[in-house]
Amino acid sequence: MARAKYAIGNWKMNGTRDMATEIKAMGEAHANPVHVVICPPATLLSAFCETHANVAIGAQDCHMTASGAHTGDVSAAMIAETGATYVIIGHSERRTDHGEANVDIAAKAQQALAAGLTPILCVGETEQERDDGRALDVVTSQIRGSTQGLDCVESLILAYEPVWAIGTGRVPTTEQIAEMFAHIDGVLADIKGGSSVSRLYGGSVKGSNAAEIFAIDGVDGALVGGASLTAEAFVPIMTALSAA
Ligand code: PGA
Repeated sequence: MARAKYAIGNWKMNGTRDMATEIKAMGEAHANPVHVVICPPATLLSAFCETHANVAIGAQDCHMTASGAHTGDVSAAMIAETGATYVIIGHSERRTDHGEANVDIAAKAQQALAAGLTPILCVGETEQERDDGRALDVVTSQIRGSTQGLDCVESLILAYEPVWAIGTGRVPTTEQIAEMFAHIDGVLADIKGGSSVSRLYGGSVKGSNAAEIFAIDGVDGALVGGASLTAEAFVPIMTALSAA
């Protein structure tokens, strides 16, 4: 069975309530058979969930436990209560800013699945790791470590985001992406349920490079930061994916 295609926007720490108009415009331009998901800051989840039926809403992180003394954190069940249906976990900015390890991310995935959310698991090497020739190994251990002990791996979405391509305007070559996606295919094939996991590319995706990226074998969509903040920038990416 063909894997599902996703255009997912990660708004990071950007966005205000009035930007519901952007989501509405994305929903109106929505092209089947692509799933469109926007992940705004947690404060906007409830407000945005009703904005447009064609755009699903996701959070950018959840806590690794169900409840308790964790000031400032939000649980997966709390996110689900807003009406959101997805959650990004293991984004490189969380791994760096908050010291999240693969074992923490596996626990977050478990919480997300228990709450009925679809986890969007992010992996990707740093520039140093690529220069050292370790990109494939790093991604292998991130995928294996972040899915350890999960019994519903088939419910995940995987996003490969080389850290050096995030927010930099630099995109790996077609050959580099193709090599990594072929590698990821092998890693997922060894994990029960892994073969049906949709695989996205992330890192400086724009309307101008989207078609080229979606033409690469094994790429099922994109996780997009900067170019997901407006319908004007994001709709061309959605359109390129539906045409791919
Ligand atoms: P970018 O961010 O598209 O702005 O490079 C991607 C991401 O961090 O998910």
